[in-house]
Amino acid sequence: MTMLTYGHRGFSGCYPENTMISFKKTIEEACADGIELDIHLTKDDELVVIHDEKVDRTTDGTGFVKDKTLAELKMLDASYKFPQYKGDEAKIPTFEEYCQYISTTDAVTNIEIKTNLVYYRDIEEKALKMVRKYNLQDKVIFSSFNHSSIHFMKDLDRDIPCGLLYPDWGMVNAGYYAHKLGVEFYHPDIKTLTKEAVDECIMNGISLNVWTVNDMESLKKCVEWGITGVITNYPDMVKDYLSAKGLN
Ligand code: G3P
Ligand code: CA
Repeated sequence: MTMLTYGHRGFSGCYPENTMISFKKTIEEACADGIELDIHLTKDDELVVIHDEKVDRTTDGTGFVKDKTLAELKMLDASYKFPQYKGDEAKIPTFEEYCQYISTTDAVTNIEIKTNLVYYRDIEEKALKMVRKYNLQDKVIFSSFNHSSIHFMKDLDRDIPCGLLYPDWGMVNAGYYAHKLGVEFYHPDIKTLTKEAVDECIMNGISLNVWTVNDMESLKKCVEWGITGVITNYPDMVKDYLSAKGLN
């Protein structure tokens, strides 16, 4: 049995989250199998990679992404907790910059459509168009806490892999629900995930990618339960453990 390792917002335990340096280090330093990232739309309709709806926490700016142009966002420093990496690779990346880079690798990308608090009209169509432009259809999984974004994505392309994200309370019939919708993955929070929920998914043919697996106890549990992939801030630690166990 093997398990896939995804860098959560890139290699965010050691590099500024959701930046090109974080993404490149996930692949080139931690040798992870994939990357998880978050997308939003700017005022001038450009797809950008950032976690929050506002720039305040992770940059030196203030305000909503939706109220700023790409040029305005590009002026900001997103080195956040790791100022030693300040520079061009620690700015807010466009989704296109990311796709261009990742298309040169074999990595899988979990694209979280961040439509929880702000709904960006047509973000699903724009993201799919970009994925197709770089021929990444077989190397992506779209996910969202806002399941309407997943419905819209599946309406655009039945074959594009998608995952249903759940916060810590999870869902009792997640596997059955995903199966009925034609969705391939369930993305639960490790904090409250149970063996019963995992088994219910597996029974329904649904694979699990679990977040955010940052400690050994959680990682061992995921291995024991037959989880498909883990999303972690420390892809180096997860890869080292899985390699030692012959699980990747
Ligand atoms: O996609 C898994 C995880 O990233 C969801 O939570 O808040 O880190 O985007 P969050
Ligand atoms: Ca995310």
